[in-house]
Amino acid sequence: MSDIKFYKHQQIPLEMHKVKIVQQLRLLPADERLKKMYAAGFNTFQLHNGDIFLDMLTDSGVNAMSDMMQAAMMHPDDAYAGSETFFRMAAKLEEIFGIKYCLPAHQGRACENILATRFVKPGNCVIMNYHFTTAKAHITRVGGRVEELVSDAGLETESTLPFKGNIDLDKLEACIKKETPANIPFVRLEAGTNLIGGQPVSYENFKAATDLCKKYGIMTVLDASLLQDNLYFIKTREDSMKDKSIREITRMIADCFDIIYFSARKFGFARGGALLIRDETLFHSMEDLIPMFEGFLTYGGMSVREMEAMTVGFDESMEMDVISQGPQFIKYMVDELAAYGVPMVTPAGGLGGHINAREVLEHLKAEEYPAGALVCAQYLAGGIRGMERGTLSEERNADGSERIASVELVRLAVPRRVFTLSQIEYVIDRVKWLYDHRRMIGGLRFVHEPKTLRFFTGILEPTSDWPEKLTAAYKADFGEDA
Ligand code: F0G
Repeated sequence: MSDIKFYKHQQIPLEMHKVKIVQQLRLLPADERLKKMYAAGFNTFQLHNGDIFLDMLTDSGVNAMSDMMQAAMMHPDDAYAGSETFFRMAAKLEEIFGIKYCLPAHQGRACENILATRFVKPGNCVIMNYHFTTAKAHITRVGGRVEELVSDAGLETESTLPFKGNIDLDKLEACIKKETPANIPFVRLEAGTNLIGGQPVSYENFKAATDLCKKYGIMTVLDASLLQDNLYFIKTREDSMKDKSIREITRMIADCFDIIYFSARKFGFARGGALLIRDETLFHSMEDLIPMFEGFLTYGGMSVREMEAMTVGFDESMEMDVISQGPQFIKYMVDELAAYGVPMVTPAGGLGGHINAREVLEHLKAEEYPAGALVCAQYLAGGIRGMERGTLSEERNADGSERIASVELVRLAVPRRVFTLSQIEYVIDRVKWLYDHRRMIGGLRFVHEPKTLRFFTGILEPTSDWPEKLTAAYKADFGEDA
């Protein structure tokens, strides 16, 4: 860990908060975990939270609120229409992003539904740096298709590139010319690019890509769900931005876009979402969809208590002491594991640490879902729940063949302000053990395979008795109760 350079340059990632409320955890014995894995159909989404020791599935809706956020929840203004809570939230968003019009929605994918329903027509092409599962599902649902133009170097799992989420500007221009602007309802750029390992986009790239879209008259949309990690990386990795405040950087990014949307399950530390729309006419063209799908225009499916909390959470997302914590813990975990030889996505990104399952389980075929198998093995070996982000998360091609994901990852998310350093050390220890025993891990196959978003509800089984053998080896090393 000698090369770890943190913001403020301490050598140990420090929690810049203290724990005031706790939730009891339990670690089921290894044999119990094996039974639970079978009951969950080898799909970690189907596990019950009470059977999990450390839940690293996601950072969505499970980030810790601050005392100030909880305090704000005590003074909401509840009304079907015209809630003052909504106006406080919209004013805070306008202060931060400089965008006046706000449509509330119950979470990020609801915003994606609104965007796809209003703007995407059959045959349209939506260009992105990289897709997110729900964003793509909504676009294809209405007959559109997605072009992902992240730079080739961004897909190299091991790298020293600081901004692997950047869109390739040459490919973007070529794609606009090929598709023609009329067939491109919008270009979507995702901050903190989720599926390639929480990798950031530089300010320079946001600006250049959106300038290009403007030249061709194409609408630009920012998915800001993972903006807070991206802001940390711009501040610490982009030389020309290091003297700017987080608020200044946020405004500079926001100024590039016509529409910004986010999941407030991530950005804002609460639950909910919103679309911010710069142009009044554009805003009016979308607003009827909110009462239809979400709820009235001043709550959009969110509870007023959550809206009050997130209004405070937005302010906290503008503080370096708050937004640095996730990326620093993640970097610590990733660097320790990489030093041991575990193939990790580097450099460490936001959101979580990402293990390159394709390389760890190189003895498995892509059709045996290496990342899906590894994520199940990680629950068996330590009660840790991660998330598969690979071929299992894709949908099959029209001819029924597997669509092999460009990257096959296991994500160990680090929800913000939730885990202590000793819990991260435990994770490091158990991932190392699993890496040493990787040849014992076999594949998975579907028993029940839904057509859409199959990773959520699919039921799978192991292709051999590898889970029993792995559990036996684990007990031999750590004891019956571990
Ligand atoms: N965009 C990005 C970049 C996301 O990471 C997510 C959710 C969404 C949109 C959808 O937001 O869940 O509020 O509907 N990501 C979660 C995750 C699910 O675990 O990474 P949502």
